[in-house]
Amino acid sequence: MSEEILDLIKKRKSVRKYEEKEVEDEKIEKLLEAAILAPSAGNRQPWKFIVIKDEDIISKVTSDPVSRFNQGWMDNGVPLMIAVCADPKVSAKKYGDRGRTLYAIQDTAAAIQNIMLTAAGLGLGTCWIGAFDEVEVSNMLELEPGLRIYGMITVGYPAKESKRPSRKPLSDVVRYID
Ligand SMILES: Cc1cc2nc3c(=O)[nH]c(=O)nc-3n(C[C@H](O)[C@H](O)[C@H](O)COP(=O)(O)O)c2cc1C
Repeated sequence: MSEEILDLIKKRKSVRKYEEKEVEDEKIEKLLEAAILAPSAGNRQPWKFIVIKDEDIISKVTSDPVSRFNQGWMDNGVPLMIAVCADPKVSAKKYGDRGRTLYAIQDTAAAIQNIMLTAAGLGLGTCWIGAFDEVEVSNMLELEPGLRIYGMITVGYPAKESKRPSRKPLSDVVRYID
């Protein structure tokens, strides 16, 4: 791993307070370009990305206590959201149940991480949102049939330096087989 990518990984932290500043289209394009370069099982690329710039829709998703699962920090304002979706049938077609229940999730997770690291490199902050009411948000976004939302990402310019919560030490989570 090059020093550069490790620096970026260290730079990324969940950002939950954003400046009231629009994210430029060129930067959004870069995030999406990074997203589709993620690996996916069998290169099935089951994903679809919904870029939510519309303030009303963002506000609907982030202020509804049901859809946002009572995450009060969203009241600070969210400039941009990306819903990372996939059609699990696309993965299931080649890989059956494992594709549907595992690969589609892994593919979208890899895309999310690519987006977040690229954002960090562009001076943007992000937060991965897993706690939302999928049915409620799918309705709000008028999601196409067959698609599921696997994760949401908030994006914007960080309003303050955020602290990274600590990690378990390597000795707790790694086992070598020599
Ligand atoms: C699958 C997943 C779901 C998450 N869901 C939420 C969420 O709903 N709301 C939130 O504020 N943060 C959420 N996070 C962010 C984590 O809380 C955060 O990544 C973790 O505390 C580590 O902090 P760091 O991202 O600053 O390193 C989620 C992260 C992951 C990977």
